Amino acid sequence: MQNLKNQAISSILETKNEQELEELRIEYLGRRGQVTKLIKKIPSLSPEQRKDKGNLINETKKIIEEAIISQKKNLQHQNGGGKENWFDITIPGEKPAKGHLHLITNAIEEISDIFKRIGFHSISYPEVEWDWYAFEGLNMPENHPARDEWETFFVENLKHPKYGQAVLTPHTSSGQLREMQRLGKPPIRMLDIAKCYRRQIDTSHAPMFYQFEGLVIDQGVNITHLKGTLDFFVKQYFGPQRKVRIRPFHFQFTEPSFEVDISCIVCGGRGCKVCKQGWMELGGAGMVHPTVLKNGGLDPKKYTGFAFGWGVERVLMMKYKIDDIRLLFSSDLRFLKQF
Ligand code: PHE
Repeated sequence: MQNLKNQAISSILETKNEQELEELRIEYLGRRGQVTKLIKKIPSLSPEQRKDKGNLINETKKIIEEAIISQKKNLQHQNGGGKENWFDITIPGEKPAKGHLHLITNAIEEISDIFKRIGFHSISYPEVEWDWYAFEGLNMPENHPARDEWETFFVENLKHPKYGQAVLTPHTSSGQLREMQRLGKPPIRMLDIAKCYRRQIDTSHAPMFYQFEGLVIDQGVNITHLKGTLDFFVKQYFGPQRKVRIRPFHFQFTEPSFEVDISCIVCGGRGCKVCKQGWMELGGAGMVHPTVLKNGGLDPKKYTGFAFGWGVERVLMMKYKIDDIRLLFSSDLRFLKQF
């Protein structure tokens, strides 16, 4: 039975036209066909044989029938089908819809590119980080009140003997210490873009977001280098009309520390309800604190440096005037298609 089935199927598949196929159909399934003959014999079999053999014969018949139907379709297809299947191959095809990268991904690439042009090396440091890199090494010892600013997610039951508790990194400043340790000595020109996490949610804060952190360390680095770098980035990213200013602020890991503002995108600096007297706040910056340099293994008497850390979503929202950060994570095509 197996032989009969195999032989039938292979000859069906070898047929080159419908005529040959019809001849085979008659040979196997026609009134005097091989399978038909076997079916006719079923009633004369003993009752035990009838069940098993009968099933097998019917099964074989079904498989051969299906093979014939499918080969018939193949042949019709190969020969261009019947008249009703004819189609004009010169009609232009329908192009599949083309997507594009998410605007956060695009912003990350754009930001990296801008800093690459002035010699920054792009890197991503871990999202799950030890306390020492995120806080202690940045001059925020245990129980220091400044830590409250970074509403941190802690990873339970995971502790490093030297570097302490595991956390979801609340900022990319942890990358400063990692880069100093990786290179061992200046010059350092790092751009660390990575995911950060904080217990926060409203129209401008998400529990997961991206930051980009710049770090430059060498001999003789000073505030004018910081200001020039910020200026370069802001003009490249937001356009040549944008101005930058730095305001005194406080961070434990920079001294002096600044908050960086740009002239308002909406009113151009005249003052409107979106901005504070013509300025919009971008994020923090400052000169690397000597203790942080020491913690990173560098000599603060020999080297100085500056650092800044801003939100990718924040600069992106400013550039495109997006007023709710949740739109960036909602995967809503009506929104995404606009970019
Ligand atoms: N890490 C700071 C924050 O998350 C920003 C910052 C980075 C400030 C580098 C100074 C220097 O707010």
